[in-house]
Amino acid sequence: MNDASPALENLLTETRAFPPSPEFAAQANVTADEYDEAVADRLGFWADRARGLLTWQTPFTTVLDDSRAPRYDWFTDGRLNAAYNAVDRHVEAGNGDRVAILWEGEDGSERRITYAELAAEVARAANAIAGLGIQTGDRVAIYLPMIPEAIVAMLACARIGAPHSVVFGGFSADALHSRILDAQARLVITADGGFRRGAASPLKPAVDDALAKGGTDVEHVLVVRRTGGDVAWTEGRDVWWDDVVPHAPAEHEPVWVEAEHPLFILYTSGTTGKPKGIFHTTGGYLTQCAYTHSAVFDLKPETDVYWCTADIGWVTGHSYVAYGPLVNGATQVVYEGTPDSPHKGRWWEIIQKYGVTIFYTAPTAIRTCMKWGEEIPGGFDLSSLRVLGSVGEPINPEAWMWYRRVIGGDRCPVVDTWWQTETGAIMISPLPGVTATKPGSAQVPLPGISARILDDAGEPVGDGQGGYLAITEPWPAMLRGIWGDERRYAETYWSRFPGRYFAGDGAKYDDDGDIWLLGRVDDVMNVSGHRLSTTEIESALVAHPWVAEAAVVGASDETTGQAVVAFVILRGGDEITDLPTGEDGGEAIVQTLRGHVGQVIGPIAKPRSILVVTELPKTRSGKIMRRLLRDVAENRAVGDVTTLADGGVMDLIQQGLAKG
Ligand code: WT7
Repeated sequence: MNDASPALENLLTETRAFPPSPEFAAQANVTADEYDEAVADRLGFWADRARGLLTWQTPFTTVLDDSRAPRYDWFTDGRLNAAYNAVDRHVEAGNGDRVAILWEGEDGSERRITYAELAAEVARAANAIAGLGIQTGDRVAIYLPMIPEAIVAMLACARIGAPHSVVFGGFSADALHSRILDAQARLVITADGGFRRGAASPLKPAVDDALAKGGTDVEHVLVVRRTGGDVAWTEGRDVWWDDVVPHAPAEHEPVWVEAEHPLFILYTSGTTGKPKGIFHTTGGYLTQCAYTHSAVFDLKPETDVYWCTADIGWVTGHSYVAYGPLVNGATQVVYEGTPDSPHKGRWWEIIQKYGVTIFYTAPTAIRTCMKWGEEIPGGFDLSSLRVLGSVGEPINPEAWMWYRRVIGGDRCPVVDTWWQTETGAIMISPLPGVTATKPGSAQVPLPGISARILDDAGEPVGDGQGGYLAITEPWPAMLRGIWGDERRYAETYWSRFPGRYFAGDGAKYDDDGDIWLLGRVDDVMNVSGHRLSTTEIESALVAHPWVAEAAVVGASDETTGQAVVAFVILRGGDEITDLPTGEDGGEAIVQTLRGHVGQVIGPIAKPRSILVVTELPKTRSGKIMRRLLRDVAENRAVGDVTTLADGGVMDLIQQGLAKG
């Protein structure tokens, strides 16, 4: 990948850059000096952050122990407690009256929870969980909607040193069962249901079904009442949250664990069928969550209102809803529902209502909002915003520009944050008061993070060249392994480039040495010996005024190895007046778009076929499931659709294609 392909050259033509305003830079938490500080003494840099941002019950003296590499241990002889750091110490410091959580239910209900109230609730929940027999080291599965109890449950587990395994509420009973089994969880914390898209959606039945499959070590199910719907009840096993938590004492002595005590397990899909239980420990994880949350979002805990739209079922919800913001003493919005319920302006209405200053969301959401039209956010006062973040996938320059202009009023720095479930916290991102941001680029490893783009042979590539992203030095929030599978950990991440962490992402440097992420390496296509990035062709398609969203896959092709197949959703609304219609309209659209891609990237990138669809198959976290699109493109029976947010999408696509 070290020869500049047409794909790389196209992204290299993106030359817009937006330096921070002098006013922003002057007040920013972090200056460029921190890069130098970390280069001069990387371990000293992290040790300072760990001491400055966290409260330790026993101070550490060892910073990094690499004697068991690739298992790296941080701050090993220190002791601390995650819940104490997230909540109690803010109360002790006199900030108990500060609002921790501004919760907005989808149905319009509201709860404001101060740090003092949160401290009491977490202590009660910890006592209640301990009362159900959970001890330090036991695993607890959490299967909850986005309600305050989700965060309380995570912190209550952390308080007694019981690693939690949060399973996204949209996962099926099967998926929940396999995760409960793999982690040998002894307790499941769930709810009767949650509100999504205007309706109560039950959760407890999936827990019942999962446990009915047998083989688990679960003794109790703790059930939060949220929707008030009927639930089946297993006497002796099931316990209402309301029957135990409110009556438990509001004092609880946190369990002071070693820095390397496991904090949580979070399952993520890998290249094989079995999800990987990525596990994280306490001291290093919290250090990097807190540091990045402060540095990347420029958080001012006294004045900012922060909102990350991620569900706690994903790592973003762990690091940038549950842990990072609370450890930093932030005030944050937590919203239960979907962005279009009861209307497509719900998010912008929430920003206006609470005066949100820092907003963190995913490119797929931004593109969806683009599709709905800018009149919708235009109807709300978004002037409180001052920093915008993006995470989850490469953000195409058009979406980035739209985000900056329409949501950020051309005023807010946009930080494109690259990281993974495995990295635990943000790794590559602009710093809002330092970096001149570029649309579509995550740009620079944060202070204290060492990343390189390597070629096939593991040699670093130079500016203007592409290859594989690797992290070349251990970092505090790194995963400590795959739960119960040390070998898979070593093989997946450390065997491709020995001694360096293989991220699985393609990336390139531009001529300034800034990093552009190109998507997973399994999504990089090879067409007639030319490398093409799915991301880049999607970006080209989305840059066309007719296209709202695009997904590109490499379908195997006898002649060219792989061929580009694109699925596009066309833009609706009044803005588009020249869309071909009538009998040949479809063909005319396809030819125009092929020509457009040819023009933007080069003839090699022209999709072999472009299929116009009305929906794309997405996981509940919003990732496009290219695997399923590849099945369609290669005329195969469509594979496993259980992780789709909307299981009917693939039928729609296939019916549409059969007609066309
Ligand atoms: C993969 C990790 C990190 C929290 C959410 C996703 C892709 C993530 C970016 C970004 C380009 C990105 C990568 C990565 N990714 N953020 N800013 N630019 N790609 O966590 O499910 O573990 O997925 O998401 O491909 O490897 P995840």
